[in-house]
Amino acid sequence: MPASWAGERITVGERVFFAGLLAGGVERFVRAPSRRAVSDTLKNALVFSSQEGTRGLVYDLIVLGGGPAGYHGAALAGRKGLRTLLVEQNALGGVCLHSGCIPSKTWLQSAKIYAHAQNGAVYGVSAEGLHFDQKRVTARKNKVVRILGAGVKAKLQNANVDVVTAKGIIQGKDDAGFRIKAGADHYTGKNLLIATGSEPIIPPIPGLAAGLAAGTVKTNAEIFDLNHLPASLVVIGGGVIGLEMAAYFNAVGSRVTVIELQDRIGGTLDRELAELLYNNYRKKGVDFKLNTRVTAVDGHRVQFTSPAGDGAVEAEVILLSVGRRPLLSGFGLETLQPQIDHGRLVVDRSGRTSVPGLYAAGDVNGLSMLAHTAYREAEVCIDRMLGGTEEVNYEAIPAVIYTDPEVASVGETAESAARKGLAVQTIKVSMRYSGRYVAEHEGGDGICKLVVARGDRRLLGVHLIAEYASELIYGAGFMIDRKLTTEELGKVVFPHPTVGEIIKEAALQNDG
Ligand code: NAI
Repeated sequence: MPASWAGERITVGERVFFAGLLAGGVERFVRAPSRRAVSDTLKNALVFSSQEGTRGLVYDLIVLGGGPAGYHGAALAGRKGLRTLLVEQNALGGVCLHSGCIPSKTWLQSAKIYAHAQNGAVYGVSAEGLHFDQKRVTARKNKVVRILGAGVKAKLQNANVDVVTAKGIIQGKDDAGFRIKAGADHYTGKNLLIATGSEPIIPPIPGLAAGLAAGTVKTNAEIFDLNHLPASLVVIGGGVIGLEMAAYFNAVGSRVTVIELQDRIGGTLDRELAELLYNNYRKKGVDFKLNTRVTAVDGHRVQFTSPAGDGAVEAEVILLSVGRRPLLSGFGLETLQPQIDHGRLVVDRSGRTSVPGLYAAGDVNGLSMLAHTAYREAEVCIDRMLGGTEEVNYEAIPAVIYTDPEVASVGETAESAARKGLAVQTIKVSMRYSGRYVAEHEGGDGICKLVVARGDRRLLGVHLIAEYASELIYGAGFMIDRKLTTEELGKVVFPHPTVGEIIKEAALQNDG
């Protein structure tokens, strides 16, 4: 098996020496206490690699997929001492890094700065000659992705995880473990973590596939490569992706229309928050078509039907964002015959599938489809592999829509509580109770809502629409996870003045 140097790296700050090599397609970084020791360690690694490459090394864990679930799980496993291999066919980081969370937040930051500059006069700051340069915005996005991609790689290296860049195919399971083919090589894993993620749903709408092929229709996979601003955009699907992209393109000057099948935007979001967001964006000029079904796409023209009648809207770019589905095929999963239900790889709250030793984390299980859920799911999978008993508390997972203002939610809404037959009360407080919010957000009309169990007054849900909501919501998730009552929450000291104080303020309203 040929082996070649891929370079040498010295981390002076940590006084730890690394040297990288490629052997049998596996990128391995060895760690040694001194520079001189690197060469000896490497020699050993080379011998080891050249023998194992053909025989097939048995790993404690093989991870398929290098997105948040995959890289976080692999790094944790490596740090915990499991001999771990991560197989990823593309660049590390997954949808989150390359065409999801990070590109959108990078773009949205530019839009926010632009909006602040445009609206600065009310704060006594006027700017002239403003220019929004989409090419530079996308170039910066690419830089941010590169920086964070290097971070993911370093995280895996530091955890001694082997990484192979190839498509991994499951070939079955025998007494030694799960057999995986990646490129020309074969590997065996005692445990296998499926972290293959999800793909956009492409509904069978006439003309949609042709539009995707021609590039007039884009999904999140293509939209972030735009180097110019389209004069107009139609968004099909008023969910999370649709709303964030509508917010972006509206802020930077495109004419935006959002077509949504349901009578509301934002899916399962608290209805009042969804309405506030809807009104906010309507005021800013976004055209929403609710209760509307797209019937055909013809070039730049999107045809639709709604209770008000049929119609069509034309746009330079059409964004398709009607949801994502778990990626379950094309990599040999069927050879293991795990339980699959409605296109989701079935797992318990510890990420265990119906096949012993086979785990799944992230979008592939279809439970929550958020990067931070993926992280937590990966953590409990590794814990289980090591004999632990951890579970994901799906009731305390925050969700954020990074519009301006942001919307952040965790736990039950009044609607979801009613569906479950939970007796709750809702406490609603205007964000104007927060000194910092009023000082910083001229004309802001955000709200904070708590959903509290009647009787023991346990906190069951927190819903915010306001700037900084994304940065506040994790604390609320923690409070719900720890089953805090509003009385206990009212005794927490929040720094003043902060927007987060609003949560305490709301809790105090429930006192007595
Ligand atoms: P989504 O499930 O959030 O929204 C899809 C929307 O499309 C729904 O409102 C649905 O009613 C609508 N829809 C479905 N078929 C339609 C049709 N034929 N015509 C018109 N509307 C239709 O899915 P989305 O926005 O594509 O996001 C995919 C995943 O990515 C989600 O799981 C989301 O949580 C995740 N994501 C999370 C982000 C965040 O946490 N900030 C950001 C972006 C995506």
